[in-house]
Amino acid sequence: MAVTPVDLTGAKILITGPTGQVALPVVEHFAKIADVCALARFRKAEDRAQMEDMGATVIAADLADAQSLEAVPEDIDYVLNFAVVKSGDFEYDLAANGEGVGNLMLRCRNAKAFLHFSSTAVYEYCGHEPRREDSPLGDNHRVMFPTYSISKIAAETVCRFVAHQHDIPTTIARLSVPYGDNGGWMYFHMLMMKEGIPIDLHPEKPNYYNPLHARDYIEKIPYLLGAATREVTTVNFGGSQRVSIEQWCEYISELTGFEPVFQDNPQAFGSLCIDTTRMHELIGETSVDWREGIRSQLQALAPEVLR
Ligand SMILES: NC(=O)c1ccc[n+]([C@@H]2O[C@H](COP(=O)([O-])OP(=O)(O)OC[C@H]3O[C@@H](n4cnc5c(N)ncnc54)[C@H](OP(=O)(O)O)[C@@H]3O)[C@@H](O)[C@H]2O)c1
Repeated sequence: MAVTPVDLTGAKILITGPTGQVALPVVEHFAKIADVCALARFRKAEDRAQMEDMGATVIAADLADAQSLEAVPEDIDYVLNFAVVKSGDFEYDLAANGEGVGNLMLRCRNAKAFLHFSSTAVYEYCGHEPRREDSPLGDNHRVMFPTYSISKIAAETVCRFVAHQHDIPTTIARLSVPYGDNGGWMYFHMLMMKEGIPIDLHPEKPNYYNPLHARDYIEKIPYLLGAATREVTTVNFGGSQRVSIEQWCEYISELTGFEPVFQDNPQAFGSLCIDTTRMHELIGETSVDWREGIRSQLQALAPEVLR
């Protein structure tokens, strides 16, 4: 591995989007060893309580509103920007996701490193070709989330612009399919299988992704922060194993007895697997086997469905 991980023990870390599926286990982990500030709009009182129970300091702010970010302390060491909004309103979503990362970086311009979470949804559809960081970009997720891919691409551009203008060491990590004991895409597939709801699949099968378990992404965050440069490091971030929707549904079927009903739909997201070369060079391979990860997820969220 080319990168030395940063030591986050005792560091002041700002985590945005802390109540989301991806960041929640990150807050839970780092609040035990570091000084974590958790930033979201916090429209629900129970979300605040959950953060406080984990030991994080709550900051209620909206990334679309630069003024509201004055609540962020000026001595943040590291930023993990997970926040995302998919309201379908282009004006707001571009302001929150695109300008939002810029607003945040300006507020935290003295941070030692800024880690922005992007998505492989920024890549154009290209069949089974593993996507490299320099592969063509496109409006991949338009069918389900009209503003998502475009605003994630916009966010990356704003992030690079501000990093370059203000010399902020930055990494952009393009997440594949994050999952863990608190949820993930395959959990929705299990629920659909249970109810006999058809699962749409792109006809160019199999539909490959790189599921990334929470244990792995938590372990890799200090490395991604260590990889941050003023030129900005952009890297795919998925599991080292390539797995298809068909494979994980078949495995869920083995565990539960529920049969998947697949339905061809050329509009469905197609294969979106990643080229892991740069990721492996920088931060090494992931370690959680996808079958172990899925079994553990069902055990945690729905033990009654396991045979
Ligand atoms: N989940 C996946 O499968 C997946 C796949 C690839 C990449 N990613 C990336 O991973 C990151 C986390 O995704 P997720 O699925 O965990 O998201 P999520 O579950 O939708 O959670 C979004 C989080 O962002 C906060 N947020 C939304 N709008 C905000 C705003 N205007 N200002 C401040 N905070 C705001 C939300 O809290 P409030 O509503 O209280 O503000 C919430 O904490 C995102 O960057 C996403 O693009 C996710």
